[in-house]
Amino acid sequence: MTDSRKPRHILITGGAGFIGSNFAYHWCNNYPGDRVIVLDALTYAGNRQTIAPLEGKAHFKFVQGDICDRALIDQLLEAESIDTIAHLAAESHVDRSILGPGAFVQTNVVGTFTLLEAFRQRWQQQNQPADYRFLHVSTDEVYGSLEFDDPPFTETTPYTPNSPYSASKAGSDHLARAYYHTYGMPTLITNCSNNYGPYHFPEKLIPLMCINILLGKPLPVYGDGQNIRDWLYVKDHCRALDTVINKGTPGETYNVGGNNEVKNIDLVGLLCKLMDELASDLPVSPSEQLITFVKDRPGHDRRYAIDATKIKTELGWTPQVTVEQGLRLTVEWYLQNRDWWQPLLSPEYQQYYQEVYAKRSVPV
Ligand code: NAD
Ligand code: TYD
Repeated sequence: MTDSRKPRHILITGGAGFIGSNFAYHWCNNYPGDRVIVLDALTYAGNRQTIAPLEGKAHFKFVQGDICDRALIDQLLEAESIDTIAHLAAESHVDRSILGPGAFVQTNVVGTFTLLEAFRQRWQQQNQPADYRFLHVSTDEVYGSLEFDDPPFTETTPYTPNSPYSASKAGSDHLARAYYHTYGMPTLITNCSNNYGPYHFPEKLIPLMCINILLGKPLPVYGDGQNIRDWLYVKDHCRALDTVINKGTPGETYNVGGNNEVKNIDLVGLLCKLMDELASDLPVSPSEQLITFVKDRPGHDRRYAIDATKIKTELGWTPQVTVEQGLRLTVEWYLQNRDWWQPLLSPEYQQYYQEVYAKRSVPV
C-alpha cells in the first residue's frame, strides 16, 4: 500500500461465511484506512461470531440482510458511498443443491443480478468512475469435470456445469460478464478451486473429516474416493482476490488455484495422520479405521484442476502455502477452536447430516 492510495469503500457480501470472513480480516488488516461493510443474511452458513473482533473497529460495519433485497442494497451503496463490491455471498454446498436447488437459483442468480443492477445504477449516477470495481467470486466447478489426463481448466475452457450449485454459479458469472460487455461496468470474475482453512463450515469435506475424527464418527468417503480436487489455502485465495481488485483488468476472468491436486481418499488419509499426530485422546486411534466408503454423490464430478498461469503472469499472484503446510495449519485450527465449531453441530445441522448420510448407509 502506498501513501497516495485513495481509500476504498468496500462492500463484502457473504462476509460472515468461510471465505468472506477470511477476506474481511484480510482487507481490514491490509487497508486499515478503508471503509469496510459486510452484508450477510446469516443463513445456516453465516456466523456473526466469526467476525465479532472486527465489529469493534471504527471503519467496519456489519449489516444483516439479503442480497436479493434491492431497496437495502440501494440504501447501503448510497449511505456508505460504496465504490467496490467483493461479492462472495452464495449458497455454496453441492450436496445441499441436490436436496433443494431453489435457494441456489434465488441467491446465486437473482441475488447476483440484484447486486449488479444496484451497482450499475450507482456507477452510472456517479458518471461511471473508472476506479469502481465489482468483483464476482466464483468457482472452477462451472467448467465441469475433467478426465484424469485432461489439461487443467483455463479461462477459455467452455462452461459445462453439472450440479445445481455450479449451474447457478455459471448463470451468475454470465451476468457479471455481460455487465462489462453491455454497459462497460468494471466487473471482474475469479474462478477458484476448492478452498480450505479456518472458519470452514462443518458440512464440507475437510472440516467434516476433522470433526468426525475428533468425535470418533465414521469418515464418509463418497464412491471409490478417487475423485480429485485442487486445494487452495483460503488465505492465498484472499490475496488473489485483493490482487484482482487492485491490479486486474475490468472485464477479465482470472482462474485461481493451488496446483495441489489430491485424490479424496489420499486427503482423508493425510488428515487422519495429522490428527493422530496432533490430537491427544482421540476416541478411535489410529483414525484411519474410521474411513467408510459410502454411496456416491449423484453426478459427482471426477476431477477439477486449475491452470493459474494468467493471474501469475499478468498480475504476479502465486500461492504461498503448500497443501502439507495448509492442512497442518487447518488441523491445528480445528483442534484449538472447538468453541467455534461445536455450536454449529446444532439440531438443524444434525437433521441435514441425517438427510444426506443416512441414505448413504453411514451410521449417523
Ligand atoms: P459459505 O457458504 O461458507 O458462505 C456464504 C455466505 O453467504 C454465508 O455467510 C451466508 O450467510 C451468506 N449468504 C447466503 N445467502 C445469502 C443472501 N441471499 N444474502 C446475503 N448473504 C447470503 O461459502 P464460501 O465457501 O465462503 O464461498 C464464498 C464464495 O466463494 C461463493 O460464491 C462460492 O461459490 C465461492 N467459492 C467457494 C469455494 C470453496 O471451496 N468454498 C471455492 C471457489 C469459489
Ligand atoms: P466438498 O467439500 O463438498 O466440495 P465440492 O463438492 O464443492 O468439491 O467435497 C469435496 C470432495 O469430497 C468432493 O469430491 C466430494 C467429496 N466428499 C466426500 O467424499 N465425503 C463427504 O462427506 C463430503 C462432504 C465430500
